[in-house]
Amino acid sequence: MGNLVLNTILSRSSIRAYQSEKLCESELEFLKKAALASPTAMNRQEQRFIFVTDDDKRARLEQAIIDGVIASGNEAFAERIRMRGGQVTYGAPLVIIICAKPGKFAPVDAGIAVENIAIAAKAIGLDSVILGMPAAAFGPGCDEAKREFGFPEGYEFQIAISVGCGAAEKAPHEWDESHVIMM
Ligand SMILES: Cc1cc2nc3c(=O)[nH]c(=O)nc-3n(C[C@H](O)[C@H](O)[C@H](O)COP(=O)(O)O)c2cc1C
Repeated sequence: MGNLVLNTILSRSSIRAYQSEKLCESELEFLKKAALASPTAMNRQEQRFIFVTDDDKRARLEQAIIDGVIASGNEAFAERIRMRGGQVTYGAPLVIIICAKPGKFAPVDAGIAVENIAIAAKAIGLDSVILGMPAAAFGPGCDEAKREFGFPEGYEFQIAISVGCGAAEKAPHEWDESHVIMM
């Protein structure tokens, strides 16, 4: 297929190792636009995109997630982190946290935005991995962490994404054509 957008969608995969190289301003600007261009139900735009680029902040975030998973006692999550080398954001130079005012369409809006970001990243030669695990750092009783990471009052974690220059390769996932039901 010769279509640039389709090729970008079809070649995206979750990359779980990153080079430490920082993203440049133009890459960050492009990713901001991709985030803000995402459609939202009734055009409410009630989500915020927290771009974590500072090394110390990213280390704090990584630790807060791991601490949150341990505190939750969720052994399946803890085992998944162990299987992935004890990492949750994989050393990416940029982690984007999407938070939103709770609402019926908040998770859908966030899902659309995070995929927009993933495809935009791929389109400019970067890699990404969508992250649900950071929810462990921003659940009930985590108001201090929410304040530290700039969540506006009343906003809740929805999803996050690590972005950077990949230091590994992975083929896109396989799929089952029967999951599309034609009528
Ligand atoms: C909502 C959602 C949450 C995810 N959370 C994580 C995560 O916390 N950690 C991780 O390494 N991958 C996470 N992933 C990545 C999936 O594991 C990955 O998309 C899936 O295995 C398919 O692989 P692919 O993205 O390479 O096609 C998440 C993906 C989605 C859509």
